[in-house]
Amino acid sequence: MPAPVQTIHVDTGHARYPIAIGAGLLTDRRWMTENVPGSALLIVSNTTVAPLYLERLLEALGERRIARCILPDGESHKTLQSASAVLDSLVHHKMHRDATLVALGGGVVGDVAGFAAACYQRGIGYVQAPTTLLAQVDSSVGGKTGVNHPGGKNLIGAFHQPLAVAADTDTLSSLPDRELRAGLAEVIKYGCIWDAALFDWLERNLANILARDPALLTQAIARSCEIKAQVVAQDERELNLRAILNFGHTFAHAIEAATGYSRYLHGEAVALGMQLAADFSARLGMIDKAVVQRLRELLKIAALPTEMPKIGAARLQELMQMDKKVLAGTIRFVLLERLGKAQIVGSYPEAALAGLLKDHFG
Ligand code: NAD
Ligand code: GLY
Repeated sequence: MPAPVQTIHVDTGHARYPIAIGAGLLTDRRWMTENVPGSALLIVSNTTVAPLYLERLLEALGERRIARCILPDGESHKTLQSASAVLDSLVHHKMHRDATLVALGGGVVGDVAGFAAACYQRGIGYVQAPTTLLAQVDSSVGGKTGVNHPGGKNLIGAFHQPLAVAADTDTLSSLPDRELRAGLAEVIKYGCIWDAALFDWLERNLANILARDPALLTQAIARSCEIKAQVVAQDERELNLRAILNFGHTFAHAIEAATGYSRYLHGEAVALGMQLAADFSARLGMIDKAVVQRLRELLKIAALPTEMPKIGAARLQELMQMDKKVLAGTIRFVLLERLGKAQIVGSYPEAALAGLLKDHFG
């Protein structure tokens, strides 16, 4: 018996939209009619997801003028060139300001398509139809869109909120295990930074979530989206609070860069980064070492990496200087003041950071 569709609302003050989570949403004609406006649509997807889910979505979208733009798969295609291909497609199909773009895929498709929607004719509407766990719990919500630059990840982008999000949990059935686990890293993140009860719940249920119990997966996605919606509502443009969503990410982005964006999936690097951020919090006396151990154990159950790559402390520190949270040359970290509560820390003894990096990276 599929879990009923749950709807969570994001309200940033100037944008209000629903996140629907449940089985069969991509085939739900009524939901699509009510939440995807426009007589002309462009569906953006990729070469992996389109063959799996495009047809059913087309059917649910009904009788309208619908064009498609299928991008190559992979983080290496999260580029201005891909965004340009989407824009070319909008022009080629003579789409106007009242056209709606639909992003069908994981975080890469969602970020590129959202960015193209933000740019086209100074902004058209778009709907997110995320098909990875990571995209359903994180990237499809909150309006961060963008592409990578050879000089760094997500360096080019815009805030542009979607009109709606349809997280069809049926799509997770075709998701490789490794991608599912990478998405779970972001769910664990919400437990660390916001909701200790979610962390406890994950400790009790993770094995069944990994076995893809539909009700548990839906619950994990819904709670994650509720938390993200609350944070984004308070600080849409990441002036302050929203930075806590980057718990572990300062380290993670540097690890991804140092390993050529090929050794780890983003969620795997986040798992490593969260352990470093927790360890740093403990070294600064903010949390007990037992919390670091609990996090490590949970990540191990999720079969996420817990051993750091030997890339050298100096290299990691250099790469972390490119982090978007750097202020006046100082790297600011999202650290834990307890399990379930994070804060942004910009002042710490340099020796403590050096010690952390040396111990983990040599
Ligand atoms: P992804 O989009 O590359 O998807 C992972 C892989 O799974 C791809 O090969 C994809 O084609 C495939 N796939 C997608 N859905 C599938 C399905 N249902 N069945 C089988 N295969 C499927 O990666 P991701 O983890 O979804 O997203 C990572 C991206 O998201 C990164 O670029 C990251 O920077 C971005 N991100 C953005 C935000 C944000 O707020 N905008 C937040 C977190 C991450
Ligand atoms: N994934 C971080 C954010 O949306 O702010």
